[in-house]
Amino acid sequence: MRKTVIVIVSIGLMLFAACKKQTSSEQTLIDNKVDSVLKLMTLEEKIGQLSLYTSDMDQTGAFIRKEYIQDIKQGKVGAIFNAYGAAYTRKLQAMAMNTRMRIPLLFGYDVIHGHRTIFPVPLAEASSWDLGAIELSARVAATEAAAEGLHWTFAPMCDIARDPRWGRVVEGAGEDPFLGSLIAKARVQGFQGSDLSAVNTVAACVKHFAAYGAAQAGRDYHSVDMSERMLRETYLAPYKAAIDAGAVTVMSSFNDLNGIPATANHFLMTEILRNEWNFKGFVVTDYTSIMELMFHGVAADTAQASEMSINAGIDMDMQSGFYNQALEKLVKENKVSEKTIDEAVRRILKVKFQLGLFDDPYRYCNEEREKTTLMKPEFLEAAREVARKSIVLLKNDNNLLPISKQTKNIAVIGTLADNKREMIGSWSAAGNWTKSISLLEGIKASAPQANVLYAKGCNIADDSTQYFAEALNVAKKSDVVILAIGEAAYMSGEAASRSSLDLPGVQLQLVQKIHELGKPVVVVLMNGRPLTINWIGEKIPAILETWFLGTQAGNAIADVLFGDYNPSGKLPITFPRAVGQIPIYYCMKNTGRPMDVNNKYTSKYLDISNEPLYPFGFGLSYTTFEYGEPMLNKKEMTEAEVLTVSIDVKNTGKYKGEEVVQLYIRDLVASVARPVKELKAFQKIELEAGQSKTVTFEISSKELSFYRADMSFGVEKGKFILMIGSNSRDTKNIDFMLN
Ligand code: NOJ
Repeated sequence: MRKTVIVIVSIGLMLFAACKKQTSSEQTLIDNKVDSVLKLMTLEEKIGQLSLYTSDMDQTGAFIRKEYIQDIKQGKVGAIFNAYGAAYTRKLQAMAMNTRMRIPLLFGYDVIHGHRTIFPVPLAEASSWDLGAIELSARVAATEAAAEGLHWTFAPMCDIARDPRWGRVVEGAGEDPFLGSLIAKARVQGFQGSDLSAVNTVAACVKHFAAYGAAQAGRDYHSVDMSERMLRETYLAPYKAAIDAGAVTVMSSFNDLNGIPATANHFLMTEILRNEWNFKGFVVTDYTSIMELMFHGVAADTAQASEMSINAGIDMDMQSGFYNQALEKLVKENKVSEKTIDEAVRRILKVKFQLGLFDDPYRYCNEEREKTTLMKPEFLEAAREVARKSIVLLKNDNNLLPISKQTKNIAVIGTLADNKREMIGSWSAAGNWTKSISLLEGIKASAPQANVLYAKGCNIADDSTQYFAEALNVAKKSDVVILAIGEAAYMSGEAASRSSLDLPGVQLQLVQKIHELGKPVVVVLMNGRPLTINWIGEKIPAILETWFLGTQAGNAIADVLFGDYNPSGKLPITFPRAVGQIPIYYCMKNTGRPMDVNNKYTSKYLDISNEPLYPFGFGLSYTTFEYGEPMLNKKEMTEAEVLTVSIDVKNTGKYKGEEVVQLYIRDLVASVARPVKELKAFQKIELEAGQSKTVTFEISSKELSFYRADMSFGVEKGKFILMIGSNSRDTKNIDFMLN
């Protein structure tokens, strides 16, 4: 198996070398500088700092305000988004430098999974369970973005998502708060490094605060209604982890939470974010969400919407232009205090100082650096490495994979096979799809001796079967068929909810026809969400979940298909059997009538099993791992103690491979019903064929605490079960007592 871990590590080190830590005296210095600027500003200039407008270079929302150039020249803008490129940002910055206060603009953009070199979509990266790889991806993205004049990315998206109908599952880390929190932290570290003023870092923006991923019925922008317990236990954790990791900005979400839109939600924006979590950065709205308060039906007009937002704790207005229109009058009417405005401005100026923009407003607009930084060979190599780590092997009957490079005739079929455009997925920033590697190209490069035959088979979403005959012909001539099927990139991401999780168009029919030929078939899935693929799961011998892997997609998939890389990804989200099972996630409650197939009056369906098609944490390898029995260093512990649990894991197959050893915990009896299992730790280990390792986890009160019946956070004495295994379903268990 090929190994490029060393390449990754060295790139990582190289990138981090530029970063230094900001000391507390430097922070105080910045605070003083902020105050000295603030003192000189008029109320109108202050309000200008609270506005963010999109340029017309890219469009990521419903409308563009054409007057943004005018606004910059008049000092009415604090930040611009959707504008990048050293020359262009320099031009806009020069306009800001021509205003009375000469306060530099902040340039933001949705750099979600790479900027020019596109990495796997976030859900794919989460499948790697490799925090170093995820951090590296964000590091490269920041380096490229900062070289193109950008200071600020609207990432990471930290929304827990348990409804695959919601298109934005693709942008997050899946369903689990523990995994999601670690990934959120890794992404913030990657984007921000340890010094925001370094020219290869950008400010992160934790979004979408809060609970955007719990939209009813999986419909984007829809209402969210949930208990405070659910909010705190599950949804808030990744945002908090990102903030604890030092993220300097937060974005409010579009949704209402229990009737109060996030953008007017004092409980979220002030009580939790500022008072409980001590967040010191600034909060920006999502696109026009101040204006949308009127559609929610909580504000009657511009003035009321602005008043509610600023008083709830929203510092910057993205795209509504309401603060510019309404705040001055609201201050005069004493509905908003100037102190509140000052506080918001202070937070924004502070980030500008931290980025070094007051020292040199053009420090990120260096055309020479831009030229030499974008899409460097080592970035492409890193993207390939992260991409192959993101692939999940869902099935591999009779070791059909890896395919031998000596195979004579390989059929590559499917609408996504000879396709570059879809490889980069949604939110691909300034990525240029023409530079991505298609699966067909990847296969040809990896198996140069093979006769590679290609046929499209069908389109992604229409009903036409006109290309079937050609595809069947090609399949007949082959020794193995590789079928690339799934979704188009636009089918997931923002405003891309689906009511069906089936393969679009006639793709399943195509698979069925090819299957009838009796040839060995490998399905390569490309999609932005879990799909309902029961038939394929049952009949097709080998299935790779590849999501959308970015610029290097084709190479990375070929690495796995031919065994140059042994897959190690694990699902960060459950695959349902049917839409009717949603919401379905591994850490559900037991209920008072847990499923019993022999008893009608238990919690189950009449027409389908409760079990998912593929559980959370699931993913195979070309090798096999055998788990021993868990061993405790003691059977009992107290709250102040640490207990250790160890397990032997042996590579019993033929290949070297990586395994994600997962630890789940259940609190058997507590003052509130606890989930049947919760992920509390994992370790990704590498084992040579035949090699064994003892994996040890430490359990302390941290892993056992929860929001008790009275909402205090802590442990309760009693029995706990520890479950260790290679996914959330297949575990070896042992129990202990907390005394
Ligand atoms: C709307 C999206 O919800 C958000 O994620 C994004 O950052 C903004 N638009 C800006 O493009």
